[in-house]
Amino acid sequence: MSLQEVRPGLEGVAVAETRLSNIDGDAGELVIAGFPVEELAANATYEESVFLLFEGRLPTETELSSFQSTLAAQRTLSDPVHTVLKDAANEGVTVMDALRMGIAVATIGHDLTVSKAQAKRLVSVVPTIVAAYWRYRMGKAAVAPREDLGHTANYLYMLSGEEPDPAAVRALETYLTTVIDHGLNASTFVARAIVSTESDLFSAVTGAVGSLTGPLHGGAPGPVLDMLQQVHETGDPAAFISERLAADERLMGFGHRVYQTRDPRAAVLERATRRLTSDDDDSTFFNTVERFEDVALRELAEHKPDRALKTNVEFYTAVLLHTIGIPRVLFTATFAVSRVGGWTAHCLEQHDANKIIRPASQYVGATDRTWTPISER
Ligand code: COA
Repeated sequence: MSLQEVRPGLEGVAVAETRLSNIDGDAGELVIAGFPVEELAANATYEESVFLLFEGRLPTETELSSFQSTLAAQRTLSDPVHTVLKDAANEGVTVMDALRMGIAVATIGHDLTVSKAQAKRLVSVVPTIVAAYWRYRMGKAAVAPREDLGHTANYLYMLSGEEPDPAAVRALETYLTTVIDHGLNASTFVARAIVSTESDLFSAVTGAVGSLTGPLHGGAPGPVLDMLQQVHETGDPAAFISERLAADERLMGFGHRVYQTRDPRAAVLERATRRLTSDDDDSTFFNTVERFEDVALRELAEHKPDRALKTNVEFYTAVLLHTIGIPRVLFTATFAVSRVGGWTAHCLEQHDANKIIRPASQYVGATDRTWTPISER
């Protein structure tokens, strides 16, 4: 086979056409189905954003109301899912592992065609799986979903069992809308690759959950919060950051494959956090966050002058979710609660104009070997 150019990490390789979102990494701009992320985040509910991705346009009032009702009506989990989640809680598996198991079991009783109906079902059940598992892990009973609440409010309600605070709901809605889709990121690529074999949406979303879990993708915000809390106690970001970089460790929440600028989603989430913390005790923590970001950007520029290592979305994800009161261990799963809208929309798009995703590899292994019988090795 002829020698091919190898592009590690598929960097810069386009493998699909999409109408869902577009990133301009040099300008630091993200457009979701035609809307700048800032505009979508300021105006849309999560349900409206999912409708936009599935249908390619904003819903009318009647369409939105019917879409919300459809999502709300299928939030409940079947008994086998609860059984698995309880067993998983007894074993103490991570929330992301439990989510993967819960999605797999949620297929029981459902047809596995790649369809909008199945996509809506997945969007509906992911928050319930996360919240139910979290409750079991805390030794509590799961809180049944409420059909009268919006998607975001219901997620918060299922976590705490209490009526959610409207300011927290709005802040979380901003988060869920902001991160709903982001080009062909690793987990979305995995989902599309799975569906491209004419497999089903539940398999695609299960695979995507696995991909999202890693610290280079959706697993970063937990470690970001750890860093910030540590520095908040010591009050010395410079010492912490230079120590990490000297040890050749990566600073979580900085750097991006596509953006050469500050991630535009970081600015959206920063504003949302600011709104939530303005008259609050947490503003002192927010001061630490701002100081940390300033020092980190300066140090990273010195550490890797040839790379543009700027703040990415996960930095302010950690700060915003923490301020809302979402426990650290739920950060990545809450990302999945949003991104399942993007994953399923991409799967539908892939399914509509499918070609199996099957890249090539460059063989660099041994050649011209002759077999040695086992007695002579
Ligand atoms: N802190 C310190 N150094 C970093 C860094 C960070 N956050 N991100 C990248 N670098 C360095 C790497 O060590 C590497 O140095 P080298 O050339 O000496 O080996 C160089 O910059 C390029 O990194 P690379 O991993 O090739 O870039 P990438 O485009 O493939 O990776 C990320 C992008 C996001 C995986 C990477 O920036 C990262 O690991 N960030 C931290 C994790 C994170 O925040 N993830 C959430 C992403 S939204």
